[in-house]
Amino acid sequence: MKMSPPRLLIFETPDELYHVAAAYWRRLAQGAVEARGRFLLVLAGGSTPQPLYRRMAQPPYRDDVPWPQTHVFWGDERLVPPDSPQSNYGQAWNLMLKHVPVPPEQVHPIPGELEPQEAAAAYSETLATSVKRQAQGQRFWPRFDLVLLGLGSDGHTASLFPGSAAIQEKQRPVRTVHAKYNNRPADRVTLTPPTFSSARQILFLVTGKEKAKALASVLEEEDDPARWPAQAIRPESGRVSWLVDRAAARHIILEEF
Ligand code: 6PG
Repeated sequence: MKMSPPRLLIFETPDELYHVAAAYWRRLAQGAVEARGRFLLVLAGGSTPQPLYRRMAQPPYRDDVPWPQTHVFWGDERLVPPDSPQSNYGQAWNLMLKHVPVPPEQVHPIPGELEPQEAAAAYSETLATSVKRQAQGQRFWPRFDLVLLGLGSDGHTASLFPGSAAIQEKQRPVRTVHAKYNNRPADRVTLTPPTFSSARQILFLVTGKEKAKALASVLEEEDDPARWPAQAIRPESGRVSWLVDRAAARHIILEEF
């Protein structure tokens, strides 16, 4: 698949956004299973995907998404035990995964209970053994079917925060990060831009007026990923779609690009 231009879809309400995101997820999952026998999915943390996870845990999605062929990964994790209310894995497990027929051995959390370097090394190993890789530039990177991402009001995505060295990473698929944001745990592990950028489909979900300035900057300001880390996600042979609600889109000037 060649690179396609980014898509920006603006919805009047978050509910409409989640409705479309859920249907798109199901279609991608079905297509991946048909083409390659499995669906490699990367989940996001934070509050934005919560309504989507709840929706996927209910009919019709609970029953007609190919969960038995779905393999679940995370784009980033806060380094807390899996049963902590701050765990991205814990959140997705409680809202969605425990309610759907995904085989437990196909759920691959970032081990938040470990020390940062150990957690990053363990997750690199998990990716190496569980995800087929594809050449991009001089190296091979994991090739996911769908990556969900959020956007922070400071322009961060996953745990790629403004000024963080992980944004420039060109060699490693996974990095440790230390960053303070909204009283959330500061020690984190994240996939790196080349890993995200190797995915077939990347779906940013952005809602609420608190994100409006960051969203307009990421989409419309000159490229400066060190300041606006979400700009570092640039698939070479995949597609980025931005699903945003009207409140988050209020500072966007050009609605089509
Ligand atoms: C995390 C996330 C992070 C999140 C943004 C947006 O671990 O916190 O993965 O990148 O997506 O911070 O968070 P909200 O959706 O809560 O605004």
